[in-house]
Amino acid sequence: MEIGWHAGERTSLRALFALAEDSPQRLEASLDRGRVLVAQDDGRVVAYLQLVESDAPGQAELFSMAVIDERRGQGLGRALVARAVAECHDEGIRTLLVATAAADVGNLRFYQRLGFRMLRIERDAFTVADGYPEGLVIEGIPLRDRVWLTLCL
Ligand SMILES: CC(C)(COP(=O)(O)OP(=O)(O)OC[C@H]1O[C@@H](n2cnc3c(N)ncnc32)[C@H](O)[C@@H]1OP(=O)(O)O)[C@@H](O)C(=O)NCCC(=O)NCCS
Repeated sequence: MEIGWHAGERTSLRALFALAEDSPQRLEASLDRGRVLVAQDDGRVVAYLQLVESDAPGQAELFSMAVIDERRGQGLGRALVARAVAECHDEGIRTLLVATAAADVGNLRFYQRLGFRMLRIERDAFTVADGYPEGLVIEGIPLRDRVWLTLCL
C-alpha cells in the first residue's frame, strides 16, 4: 500500500467520496475542494483523505475520508491520518479539525482512538435542505447532530 497526493481530476474518486457523504448535494459541492491523499494497492485507490484549508491560521480541516469496505479495520485510516498530520505539521499547521455525525459512534471511536478531542456539537446539521435523505438512521440513531473534534499537532 502506498500513500501519496492525488493529481488531476477527481471524478474517478467520486464513488469513494460517496462512502463518506450521504448528501449527493454536499458531495458535488465538495469534490474539488482542497487536496486529497490517496492510498493505493498496485495502482488501485483503496482509501482517501481530503484536507481543506481553514479560515483560522495554523488550522486545517480533515474534510472527509473513507476506506473501501474490504480494506477497513486494517490500519489504512490510521495511516492516512498519520500522513496528513505529518504533512500539516511540516507546513506549520498545529490544529486539525474534523466533523462527523454524532450518530456514527464508530467514527467517533475512530477519531478519538487517533487522539482527536471533542470541541463542539452542531445540532440539526444534517438537513433535507442540505441534501440528506429524510429519516436517515445510523446504528439505530437518527442522523441529526454534527460533532466537531480537533487534534493538536
Ligand atoms: C472510518 C474509516 C475511515 C476508518 O478506517 P479504517 O482503515 O477502517 O480504520 P483503522 O483500521 O485505521 O482503525 C483505527 C482505529 O479505529 C478503530 N475503528 C475504525 N473504524 C471503526 C468503527 N467503525 N467502529 C469502531 N472502531 C473503529 C479501529 O478499531 C482502530 O482502533 P484500535 O487501534 O483500537 O483497533 C472507515 O471505517 C470508513 O471508510 N468508513 C466509512 C466512511 C466514513 O464514515 N468516513 C468518515 C467520515 S468523514
